[in-house]
Formats: sequence, structure tokens, C-alpha cells
Amino acid sequence: MNFLVLNGPNLNLLGEREPEVYGTTTLRDIQAGLEVISAKRKHKLGFVQSNAEHELIEKIHAAKKEGVDFILFNPGAFTHTSIALRDALLGTSIPFIEVHLSNIFSREEFRKHSYLSDIAIAVISGMGAYGYELALLGAEEYLKNNS
Ligand code: DQA
Repeated sequence: MNFLVLNGPNLNLLGEREPEVYGTTTLRDIQAGLEVISAKRKHKLGFVQSNAEHELIEKIHAAKKEGVDFILFNPGAFTHTSIALRDALLGTSIPFIEVHLSNIFSREEFRKHSYLSDIAIAVISGMGAYGYELALLGAEEYLKNNS
């Protein structure tokens, strides 16, 4: 299976950014953990972080051409603002799980709305870095049952 893990703005700061909210695990640690799991299970795994909305959109477009089966997506603050990312995901029809380290429903009002949740296969929010691993296993199960 071919997975793409996409990370939006400010997630490059994980580890030092508001550790009381996002924990102390770095994005590199998250990537390393997912790579170990993927290698064991013989999956292909791409891992990308960008602070630019257009780069995330282009990665989603490219994923379609590259035969990515499933996207694990933490869109960061673009979750709450980006119709363009929603359209990119709808336009390519690649199934995805929306991942958030924090529980976006227990925070400020503006974080409670996501432009992506209703078109996601699932949303994992509030499990910290472990949420990415849960998403990978969930995506694998989804693909086993739906392809
Ligand atoms: C986040 C939650 C978003 O509201 C926030 O803007 C982020 C990180 C999370 O992983 O909890 O940048 O996506």
C-alpha cells in the first residue's frame, strides 16, 4: 500500500511549539515511527510538511498521479480555513484520515469547525503523536476492506 502523510503549517515546530498542547514529540520522531511500522508491513510511505497552502494542494494533485492509495492529513490551521484543500481532496478522490494531535473540540470555538471532516474517512483528534500511528493502521484496514 502506498501512503502519503501530509502535514500543514507550523507542524515543523512540533516538540518546541506549545508542548502542553501538542506534546514533546517532534515531527521527525513521528516520521521515524511511521517509517518503522511501514517498513515492517511493506508499505510505501511519503512524508511531507509544508507551511504553504498551495504546496499542500500540489502534493495532493501529485499524489493522484503517483498512485497514492491513502492520505493521512494533519492540515494544521488550514483545517479551519481552507476550501481549497477540501476541493483538492474532492478533486482527486483519494481517501484520507484527518489527524490532529490535540482535541480540536475541547479548544477555542474557531477550531471546532473543519472544512475536511465530513469528507474524511475518519477523524483522529486528541491522541497526540500516537494518532498518526492509529491513522496508519486504520487506513490499512480501510484499504483491505475497500479495494
Ligand atoms: C492541529 C490543530 C489545529 O487547530 C492547529 O491549528 C494546528 C495543529 C493539531 O494537530 O492539533 O496547527 O491540527
